[in-house]
Amino acid sequence: MSKFRILFQLSGSIACYKSCAIISKLVQDGHEVQTASTANALKFVGGATLSGLTGKPVFNDIFEAGRTMDHIILAKWADLAVLCPATAHTINQLANGLASDCIGTLFLAYDLKKPYLIAPAMNQEMYNHPATQSSLKKLQNWGVQVLPTDFGHQACGDLGPGRLLNPDAIYEKIMEARG
Ligand SMILES: Cc1cc2nc3c(=O)[nH]c(=O)nc-3n(C[C@H](O)[C@H](O)[C@H](O)COP(=O)(O)O)c2cc1C
Repeated sequence: MSKFRILFQLSGSIACYKSCAIISKLVQDGHEVQTASTANALKFVGGATLSGLTGKPVFNDIFEAGRTMDHIILAKWADLAVLCPATAHTINQLANGLASDCIGTLFLAYDLKKPYLIAPAMNQEMYNHPATQSSLKKLQNWGVQVLPTDFGHQACGDLGPGRLLNPDAIYEKIMEARG
């Protein structure tokens, strides 16, 4: 299998731990994976875990010394980008073109002719909210591939849509998207 450069981005959801298994499998399968995360994602999984899995420091702070052009460099470097898990906040941020953090700047610097996948994960009310639904539609119209969510029990006790799609299915979607 040819080496594939994957920009794997995380935002601050309870489902962040599930992304670690996907990242691990991508690396084991020979793909080059660079992680990027919101500040809040690092409250759910540690930078040491993401760096340990990929062999590369996570990109988190656009003002970090020595990495001040990484929001452009990594957007160009990647063959495919994935945002998993995608929070309501980050989805709404991207749909409004806001570039206040590394995920927002990477998104604007990224050429959407390349695959960009979003795997939403959130409470069912947050998922069904018109703000979130309209942002997801907007992103889809821009060429982003929005993955479905699973229906099921949620960390808050609710039952409904918005659960992160199971990691094996996300892995398969990444493989399909790379063509
Ligand atoms: C324990 C906990 C779990 C959370 N899980 C989610 C989640 O699954 N999806 C979501 O959209 N927000 C979730 N949130 C809220 C987000 O972390 C919050 O909206 C945050 O501002 C998102 O920031 P980010 O998108 O920049 O990472 C959770 C918050 C806490 C405290």
